[in-house]
Amino acid sequence: MEGCGISRDEAMALLVGNISNIALRRHCLAAGAIMRNLAVRLGHASEAGLWEVTGILHDLDYEQTSSDPAVHGTVTCSMLRDRLPEESLHAILSHNAENNGSSRESLLDSLLTAAECVTGLVTATALIYPDRKLAGVEASSVIKRMTKTGFARNVSREGIMECEKAGLPLAEFMDISLESMKSIADDLGL
Ligand SMILES: [Fe+2]
Repeated sequence: MEGCGISRDEAMALLVGNISNIALRRHCLAAGAIMRNLAVRLGHASEAGLWEVTGILHDLDYEQTSSDPAVHGTVTCSMLRDRLPEESLHAILSHNAENNGSSRESLLDSLLTAAECVTGLVTATALIYPDRKLAGVEASSVIKRMTKTGFARNVSREGIMECEKAGLPLAEFMDISLESMKSIADDLGL
């Protein structure tokens, strides 16, 4: 399990058990795939499993906290305490820093936020193609939409730019994100 207290299978079971919305499950899967590849790219290959599980589980409390965004992330951390390392719990907490009073401090904090934000922009871009598939989407097309504020307006561009705080230029981050999502396109329904 590469140092992770939760296997991918168990993370998937937790996801299915706590999240009923299929689009939200897919968002979590996409974030996990991106996190796995970011770990490899950034020299943390031995933690790729942990980073993936962190991505899969980051929104675990989303449906139970939907009426109170101030505790989104906090509840997940309570659920997973002693199951994930502190660095993963903090990344999960701080992906909602804007609402729960935490702050992003580590590389992992910034990368999880960037990964979970970019999934929305990539998905929205795929959906404007005639076949509504990821296969024909290029990273440059997604990057072009970063500046179109009316497009996928609920996707935080600032969140995506957290990649650069982690030392990864946007173009490279977008390449990794897109390739990660393409690698599980069937699971994402894209
Ligand atoms: Fe999320």
